[in-house]
Amino acid sequence: MKISGRTFVVSGGASGLGRACVRDICALGGHAAILDMNEELGSALVQELGGSQAKFLPCDVTDTDSIAGAVAAAVAWASETGKPLGGVIPAAGVGFPGLVLDKQLRPVSLENVDLVLRINLRGTLDLVRQVLPHLGAVEPEGVDGERGVVVMVASAAAFEGQMGQVAYAASKGAVAAMTLPMARDLSRFGIRVVTIAPSMFESNMTAHMSDKVRVGLKKAMEFPARPGQPEEFASLVRQAIENVMLNGVVIRLDGATRMPSKL
Ligand SMILES: NC(=O)c1ccc[n+]([C@@H]2O[C@H](COP(=O)([O-])OP(=O)(O)OC[C@H]3O[C@@H](n4cnc5c(N)ncnc54)[C@H](O)[C@@H]3O)[C@@H](O)[C@H]2O)c1
Repeated sequence: MKISGRTFVVSGGASGLGRACVRDICALGGHAAILDMNEELGSALVQELGGSQAKFLPCDVTDTDSIAGAVAAAVAWASETGKPLGGVIPAAGVGFPGLVLDKQLRPVSLENVDLVLRINLRGTLDLVRQVLPHLGAVEPEGVDGERGVVVMVASAAAFEGQMGQVAYAASKGAVAAMTLPMARDLSRFGIRVVTIAPSMFESNMTAHMSDKVRVGLKKAMEFPARPGQPEEFASLVRQAIENVMLNGVVIRLDGATRMPSKL
């Protein structure tokens, strides 16, 4: 799938990994609809990109009507600009930690579990399912008749969740597990599904980590012994969009890091 001349829907596109994807898509001549709750960061990004290649659409991915409104606006924008939808990158996510049982013998709160699952799992699936009917209706491209790409975001926690990551690991493990059945369901439409599972990347989500945690994390890293940069994540998303042979797969992006129990 060519990025140039296409519109991509990016949730969580106002910050971190999603923002790097938005910048990359626009640099390659595509358009990006930024669906996010953070209007300040989203609008600043649209300005940075010159105002015409990206559009900020306020959206809370836990609210299905909010997604519906934002998707409808993205589809209308794609039609106005003549750049049909090319894919969706549901990158909105949160990492609220919580031990399944704490030292005071209190089990993790269901509010915590529900919120993490609502944003990371239900929010991902709901956005994808609402974009899909529009992707399924675009003109197929190239010899393979490709219509679009779904690039989901899991995490190393899908495989090696650390202490306090029960809810987060459940949400990301579920995203990883959805990848193959979704690809199978969508193959008849020429729509591919790729999931990326990053280890620690620099972003707002990880900016507040203590020095102790950062030092511990470095010890768990092989090569390179540093957190990933959002641009390195965006570069793999670009490949996932452009390389038609990537489908139904979860790709670890982690420099061989395997997370220990705690840092
Ligand atoms: N940074 C890492 O180390 C890392 C590692 C593995 C996976 N991830 C995943 O990558 C994705 C992006 O995370 P990031 O590191 O860029 O974090 P980030 O905090 O920089 O960006 C997340 C964005 O999601 C938005 N968001 C949060 N809740 C939302 C909601 N309900 N509706 C709409 N938007 C919402 C936020 O406003 C923010 O702009 C997440 O799914 C995260 O779990 C991150």
